[in-house]
Amino acid sequence: MLRTHTCGELTVKNAGKPATLCGWVHRRRDHGGLIFVDLRDRYGFTQIVFDPENTSTFAAAEKIRPEWVLKITGLVRKRLEGAERKENPTGGIEVLVEKLEVLNEAKTPPFEIDVEKDVGEEVRLQYRYLDLRRERMSKNLVLRHKLLQATRRFFYDRDFIEIETPILIKGTPEGAREYIVPSRLYHGQFYVLPQSPQQLKQLSMVAGLDRYMQIARCFRDEDLRGDRQPEFTQMDLEMSFVTAEDVMQINEEALIAITKELKPDVKIQTVPFPRFSWQEAMEKYGSDKPDLRYGLALTNVTDLCEKCGFAVFADTVARKGIVQALRVPGGASFSRKDIDDLTDNAKIYGAKGLAWIKLVKGKSEGVPVAKLGEELTKKMGERLQLQDGDIAFFTADMLEVACLSLGAVRCEIARRLKLIPGNVFAFCWITDFPMFEIEKETKQITAMHHPFTRPKNEDLDRLRLDPLHVKAEAYDIVLNGYEIGGGSIRIHERDLQKEIFDILKVSDEDAERRFGHMLKAFQYGAPPHGGIAWGLDRIAMLFAGEPNIREVIAFPKDQKGKDLLLAAPSIVPESQLKELGIRISES
Ligand code: AMO
Repeated sequence: MLRTHTCGELTVKNAGKPATLCGWVHRRRDHGGLIFVDLRDRYGFTQIVFDPENTSTFAAAEKIRPEWVLKITGLVRKRLEGAERKENPTGGIEVLVEKLEVLNEAKTPPFEIDVEKDVGEEVRLQYRYLDLRRERMSKNLVLRHKLLQATRRFFYDRDFIEIETPILIKGTPEGAREYIVPSRLYHGQFYVLPQSPQQLKQLSMVAGLDRYMQIARCFRDEDLRGDRQPEFTQMDLEMSFVTAEDVMQINEEALIAITKELKPDVKIQTVPFPRFSWQEAMEKYGSDKPDLRYGLALTNVTDLCEKCGFAVFADTVARKGIVQALRVPGGASFSRKDIDDLTDNAKIYGAKGLAWIKLVKGKSEGVPVAKLGEELTKKMGERLQLQDGDIAFFTADMLEVACLSLGAVRCEIARRLKLIPGNVFAFCWITDFPMFEIEKETKQITAMHHPFTRPKNEDLDRLRLDPLHVKAEAYDIVLNGYEIGGGSIRIHERDLQKEIFDILKVSDEDAERRFGHMLKAFQYGAPPHGGIAWGLDRIAMLFAGEPNIREVIAFPKDQKGKDLLLAAPSIVPESQLKELGIRISES
């Protein structure tokens, strides 16, 4: 090595001894005739000192600038009393430089590396290698590495084996658009990048491998959000001969162990993790990924609104919709503007409006009050336990819109009123998902999770007759309002799998073409099996306390799916396209 120690290593124990360090110039200060430099590497900072008595190094030190790469040799010495920096592990010492070698000079970086301040994301991503030099970012990457290690260790210790599955495959449906790769050898044919290793892990179970896990890269061409990237990392897991309970149990143990190891100061709010059916979570929290760190539960008031005088409510009930209410203690102080902003929040999720009733000095206010009448308003207040100074918000719509839109209002209010405690992890499981849903755009029936999910045994009879009321053996794991994982018990019988494809209106021919390999494999002694996948980027984001997953991914895409560092996607030479048999159309 060019160095004897890292920049995070020397302490008073090394005082009086020589050391050679390599690193970047973090900060330079000229002080009382001496030049002080904080030399930085991934491990920390060490103060190095240039004394004018050493004329040649001092002259060289006068020229050095931030981010130059240095190699220095000198004597480690205790700092003068009062000059120690307790917050820095190397803060008790400094190195008096005897020899300086400039390993490389650096242009002035486009943003400061040594101060924690907001820098535009575009420039950060363009110069990601500089951005990653910043302490916050390198800490995030180390944390992510530890998360991966702890995850692997937990499952390796329990007989899981890591099996790498291919990236160039045939599509696997997980609900997003797929990335495709043209084949050079077979013009007009394409590989598809996996949205997850779903089918391959199931085939590993057919192969008798019993307990599989993989830190797997997945690719989904979908609209990006703070917690979504076009390529992301899963901890993907599958087990044979298990019930949903077994899969949930081992994953719960894993998440508790990993949290305790990596975030010892964080309080896990409730153990064992609370469980909600999908319907319960939607009705109580307006979300299938509820943030349980705060209360503000919703109340279903549909029964009170039937044939009431407020047409918006009554008509919704007549259409078999629901009326949901949210009581906000002390919320009567919300201004008109606050309420308008919250209404905008609700509208994002499809609500047509947001009704409200305030109780001020014993008097109810708000549009529905007159229409509901005194008696019903009072009843409503009693149901919601509305106190003086409170406000209640209402959404009236079909179940999903009414719940999700009021759920969004709930989250926004918690943020505004600062009700979200720090340092708490509130995990929960969501179960009993509907097996199918109607896709908004195509109005077609689709699988809510994926088509390999097993319907609940007790619902098998109604699979054909009433598919939209069939529940799936599926479970999601949620942390602080984020879905951090999802899985299910799978179908392992060919006939049942074919039936599901049939309900999904996948023709026999299409099923054979797309999933023939699964149907074939299921004829060769497929064991009952199930599994889960965690979104590791999301877990890393929550562990690091970051607002989006780009902060915990070394080289992420920007919010428009671009890699600004490498400038991808990009045009490829005409010759390459020709080789692939591809012509780009003008439009
Ligand atoms: P699912 O589609 O629920 O399940 O994905 C599992 C978890 O992966 C994370 N995730 C994402 N993270 C970042 N960017 C994305 N675009 C993205 N999409 C999903 C989420 C999610 O909970 N094959 C099934 C798993 C199974 O059934 O075993 C699957 O992939 O945290």
